[in-house]
Amino acid sequence: MQLKSSLKLISLIFSFTSVVDATDPSYTTMSYPTGTVITTTTTQTVTYTQTIPYNQTITYCPPTSTPAPTCPLNAGAMYLRRMWRGDISSHFYSTYGPEVAYYGTQAYVEETPQGRLYPVQQVGTVPLWRCIESGGTPQVNYFYTANAAEFQARVAGGCQAMGDPAAAGVAQEIGYLYTSQVCGSVPLYRLYSASRFDNFYTINSTERQNNINNGLYADQGIVGYVLPN
Ligand SMILES: *[C@@H]1O[C@H](CO)[C@@H](O)[C@H](O)[C@H]1NC(C)=O
Ligand SMILES: *[C@@H]1O[C@H](CO)[C@@H](O)[C@H](O)[C@H]1NC(C)=O
Repeated sequence: MQLKSSLKLISLIFSFTSVVDATDPSYTTMSYPTGTVITTTTTQTVTYTQTIPYNQTITYCPPTSTPAPTCPLNAGAMYLRRMWRGDISSHFYSTYGPEVAYYGTQAYVEETPQGRLYPVQQVGTVPLWRCIESGGTPQVNYFYTANAAEFQARVAGGCQAMGDPAAAGVAQEIGYLYTSQVCGSVPLYRLYSASRFDNFYTINSTERQNNINNGLYADQGIVGYVLPN
């Protein structure tokens, strides 16, 4: 970002905040605004201070450290609702009520929700991407990942991106989850059954272990961390 400075000292919060040193005697003839202006809409505030030459154009580089999550537990978190269709062994997950209602008319039965996602991105969270892949009619697999590169590779391989209108209007994602276990969040486990052509996601570690032990599903690690039910 290019900033034309008329300030001796500028302190940037997400590049939108300026704190002015109005007491500097070398610039007493200039008129300075005072105080701090914060226009950031995020809940996390990071202060980045840099002294820059007077009236110079500078390139602003945001801080490289990742700010700590602030745990906005009431930021409209949505249940990650789970559905199951037995005749084609297919799990489906959605945060969007009308979508769940529609799948209910397509022989999917709702089960326990698997934690909650944020509808808009919070500090420390990433999108949960979704796509649908065909295993030959009638088999389908709904695939979810928080790894953008993995998602892009799956889409390139034929998995059709499938968004959720409830999630910030973005076409391929259904909400946001943490990348580490913070704010009381719990792991969202991913499993896969090749014979069923089905990815299965759960926050229930007993259920996960049972499905690995009985040989039906293979462990595929942790997708990310969701708020508990
Ligand atoms: C800074 O730039 C403004 C606008 O270009 C100019 O009016 C002012 O004299 C400059 N101040 C200094 C100290 O160079
Ligand atoms: C977790 O899964 C086990 C095994 O399916 C089940 O007995 C238990 O009720 C589940 N716990 C919750 C909180 O859903």
